Amino acid sequence: MEIKVELTQNPKQKVPADKLGFGNVFSDHMFIMDYQTGKGWHNPRIVPYGSIAYEPAVMVFHYGQAIFEGLKAYRTEKGEIVLFRPQENFRRLNASCDALCIPKIDEEFALKALMQLLTIDRDWIPDAPGTSLYIRPFIIATEPHIGVHPANSYHFIIITGPVGAYYKEGLNPVKIYVETKYVRAVVGGLGEVKASANYAASLKAQMEAAAKGYTQVLWLDGVERKYVEEVGTMNVFFVIGDEIVTPMLTGSILPGITRKSCIELLRSWGLNVVERRVSIEEIFDAHEKGILKEAFGTGTAAVISPIGELCWNDRKIILSNGKIGELSQKLYDELTGIQYAKKPDPFNWVVKVELT
Ligand SMILES: Cc1ncc(COP(=O)(O)O)c(C=O)c1O
Repeated sequence: MEIKVELTQNPKQKVPADKLGFGNVFSDHMFIMDYQTGKGWHNPRIVPYGSIAYEPAVMVFHYGQAIFEGLKAYRTEKGEIVLFRPQENFRRLNASCDALCIPKIDEEFALKALMQLLTIDRDWIPDAPGTSLYIRPFIIATEPHIGVHPANSYHFIIITGPVGAYYKEGLNPVKIYVETKYVRAVVGGLGEVKASANYAASLKAQMEAAAKGYTQVLWLDGVERKYVEEVGTMNVFFVIGDEIVTPMLTGSILPGITRKSCIELLRSWGLNVVERRVSIEEIFDAHEKGILKEAFGTGTAAVISPIGELCWNDRKIILSNGKIGELSQKLYDELTGIQYAKKPDPFNWVVKVELT
């Protein structure tokens, strides 16, 4: 399928690297494609970034059929542009499609479309250390209709925008509140896919934790409120004795691409990574016994986020003396090294964007 291109007549002013922040600035163009029952996915195009008009009756506003992805493009020291495991993001987008009865996309075509968008907006990919271009593919139901059923029309859209360095002065340990009142997801629900609904469901807990002085919440399982699931919008790892434990994918946890990459890296270093159920009780007990060495979150935005403090009801623990754990730092250096093509890429994770 040929992608029609309409270039902007009003290129926007770029924002200096130190003023970028996260999620505030958008590049000049976006990719958009339509779906209609009977016609399938059609009319792929790259157009100037801008407003789209929708009727108030479109179904995404009422029934929340909306899914998204998040990945980054990096500029290497040689000036090349690379992506990190982008096929995994489009595979997960299709898993989200399946969970929300949205028609699947052609993953190879989506990657091709992204490459073309990046080629057009190549000047938007920043080169200051630690900066990157955040990529947000998403799908929404666009059929104007009142009544609950899967929509008959959709938009698949990709927008991008430069983002600043997540850590300006090195890795920063965060304070985490163990959430016992609210739950993020349950097995059989939408937790293992990137449905917008999951993020709406997380807001209240996040706000209440922030008001208590915590950066993120640690989610427990939705049934027993006993087993650890995720930390904010990251997967979570604990180093207990000589075991590196991460919650197994039970169906309510998002299968993170950084999580998967960390497991593969750690195993390649000969370390003992175990995917299993891990209770919050076990974590606090391990701390008491002096065998909880460190804990960290993993995700595209921060890559690795060391956990400096955990608060569970009236119990508080400080991990790694509030400092960055050894393994957190090593994983961060290795992953960012691979992502910016500063280190060898033995797993072939990095995909180069051929600028034409
Ligand atoms: C709920 C949730 N868990 C985990 C992750 C980490 O996933 P990834 O490593 O693919 O960015 C994310 C971010 O996408 C997320 O939103």
